[in-house]
Amino acid sequence: MAPATHTALDGDQLYHKLSVLGQYDYDRATCDRYASMIAEIRRLKEQLRAVVLAHNYQRPEIFEVADFIGDSLELARKAREVRDAEIIVFCGVHFMAETAKVFNPERTVLLPYLKAGCSLADSVTAEALADRKAELRRIYPDLKVVSYVNCTADVKALSDACCTSANATKIVDAIDGDHILFVPDQNLANYVQGQTKKQIISWDGNCYVHHQITVAEVEKVKRGLPGVKVLAHPECRADVLEVADAVLSTSAMVRYAEQSDATEFLIVTECGLSDRLLLEIPGKHFYKACKLCRYMKMITLESTLDSLRNLRYPIELDDDVREGARQALERMLELSA
Ligand code: 13P
Ligand code: SF4
Repeated sequence: MAPATHTALDGDQLYHKLSVLGQYDYDRATCDRYASMIAEIRRLKEQLRAVVLAHNYQRPEIFEVADFIGDSLELARKAREVRDAEIIVFCGVHFMAETAKVFNPERTVLLPYLKAGCSLADSVTAEALADRKAELRRIYPDLKVVSYVNCTADVKALSDACCTSANATKIVDAIDGDHILFVPDQNLANYVQGQTKKQIISWDGNCYVHHQITVAEVEKVKRGLPGVKVLAHPECRADVLEVADAVLSTSAMVRYAEQSDATEFLIVTECGLSDRLLLEIPGKHFYKACKLCRYMKMITLESTLDSLRNLRYPIELDDDVREGARQALERMLELSA
């Protein structure tokens, strides 16, 4: 997991740093405006004893105020280890902020934009899961429910263990039970089915960002760039994963790109990750799938500043939901240790 840069950049320095992204929206005036917001956010973090946790898909300017940047597993671990802070500002989506709250009931956990949700999390409700679980338990008494962390806390609370894209197969293999109801991502479920002897029963959910990427798009880039390494996220369709050189979580893609001898990569996931790679690994070339997650992009510097100024928007969880979700998350951390 990467900590953000520790020195605040002025507008000129920020402009030069972000110019490697080749995006027109980072002009001089915008970078000046961002630099003053970044300075104010950093000041408020100190004053309020706040930390900012940011997912890899966040905007590059958000990385400048983040104390930690990572994938879902790293952020869950980090949220569990927070010690010297009264406030956690979560620059990511709602289910991630809920996970931070699960581990920090006494702290204020803020999500800067309340509608920053997730199409996967929306595809399963606790009621529907409870019905399906009861139905399947009659057929498979040993049934276990493994929920991908991209779901709400009340869905986690009905699960035997959670998993992330970094540890899904490991959790399925480690949990006792040969029949696994895996919710909500059907693509990740199919991917895990290819790696395990256990029987996976999938749910009809998907991430709209990854599910729209086609094998034809990937093949086209491969034809134009012979030798390019294709790194794909397991939320992609099975035929896309088949043509990838590696199937990895977002942070595992960063490590792979750092360690590989290859210099050209096609990053088949949300575009924010390619921005992080371009900023952190100079000298290598990263081609993007050009897909944005509208939910992740709802978090801006403006909303993060507003979040700290006005303590918006606090995440609250019922005690029983929080305790149930905590147990499923702790089980994941135990099984993946
Ligand atoms: P990672 O855990 O790999 O970062 O994935 C999170 C996510 O939301 C992918 O769409
Ligand atoms: Fe959800 Fe997909 Fe966005 Fe990740 S990229 S937060 S899975 S909608």
